[in-house]
Amino acid sequence: MISSRIIGLGHHVPENIVTNHDLSKLMDTTDEWIVERTGIHQRRFMNPEKDTVANMAAKATRMAAERADLKIEDIEFIIFATITPDYYFPGSGVLLQRELNLERIGALDIRNACSGFIYGLSVADQFIKTGMYKTILVVGAEIQSTVLDLSTRGRSTAVIFGDGAGAAIVQASQENGRGVLSTHLHADGRFAEELYIKDPGSSRPQAERQPEQILDTSTFKVHMNGNAVFKHAVGKFAEVIEEALKSNQVHVEDIDLLIPHQANLKISKFLQASLNLPDEKVYNNIMRYGNTTAASIPIALSEAWAEGKINPGQLVCLAAFGSGFTWASALIKW
Ligand code: UT7
Repeated sequence: MISSRIIGLGHHVPENIVTNHDLSKLMDTTDEWIVERTGIHQRRFMNPEKDTVANMAAKATRMAAERADLKIEDIEFIIFATITPDYYFPGSGVLLQRELNLERIGALDIRNACSGFIYGLSVADQFIKTGMYKTILVVGAEIQSTVLDLSTRGRSTAVIFGDGAGAAIVQASQENGRGVLSTHLHADGRFAEELYIKDPGSSRPQAERQPEQILDTSTFKVHMNGNAVFKHAVGKFAEVIEEALKSNQVHVEDIDLLIPHQANLKISKFLQASLNLPDEKVYNNIMRYGNTTAASIPIALSEAWAEGKINPGQLVCLAAFGSGFTWASALIKW
């Protein structure tokens, strides 16, 4: 029986650190407000001279390949999760393929926001189990700093997001009982506009799609109904973790490490309390990076692994909730 194992993890974040104090110079906010409501102390914002979604993803990939002792040429397929692609089209998957000098291999783009990495992992897992590919790169990368309204008008949204990239190399394995045990994917499109960017969307009539016709450019920035997202997130995180445990007939005490999508530290803490998990079993790094959407889980996985918190034989649970709404979980026997 073939299973899919994550054999290498890497991440890359822009050098530019933006503290809460830095944001308070751009908008009416304070370090105290941001820390109390989100747990975030700083995030990274891209440098336009240096960083692109595709090149950050390439750096994360090289780190993952090096840690796995794998040649980049051995990657057979790319799955790229992002909601902030370098271009409107084509997706960033092909740009990453070009950055890595990989010729001809397929590249698939996934636009499932905060759940994008788990959706990507799920697709990789299925491709591996059917024997279609043996080695797949799954990345999540975002540059969100340029789609935030960094004025007081956008303060309730802008303070939570950041930029970065994370990568996982997923490989076929014959080792019984190890690897991705299951993935669980959900969506509820009724809430699409609770967290979205409208433009440049194809729903506008031709005349309105001329840039000079769009007088209110706020539709090019992230819109989020924070309260509604928060409320749904806490319920769905718990539900989808429960689903993963149940389908594998294991219990919450069996989890060695839970990596929740880094949406807001309050959401992670609420979840931890509701599952009754001790601090050492829940990994959070939102304090340093903010919410990096599709990049958040692979960055956290990469850091947790580097800190020695993920070891062979351990049970790792990933869970995410975000725009769509979409939510997902994965249970992995490392
Ligand atoms: O990863 C994708 C999924 N996203 C999420 O999971 C995000 C979920 N939502 C959240 O994390 C929270 O809703 C936020 C952190 C975004 C906002 O926190 P909140 O506790 O829901 O604040 P709020 O929007 O209800 O605003 C409360 C007050 C308001 O003032 P009044 O009307 O009570 O006087 C806001 O104007 O705080 C004010 N406010 C701020 N004050 C200082 C909003 N943003 C700020 C700010 N600085 N940055």
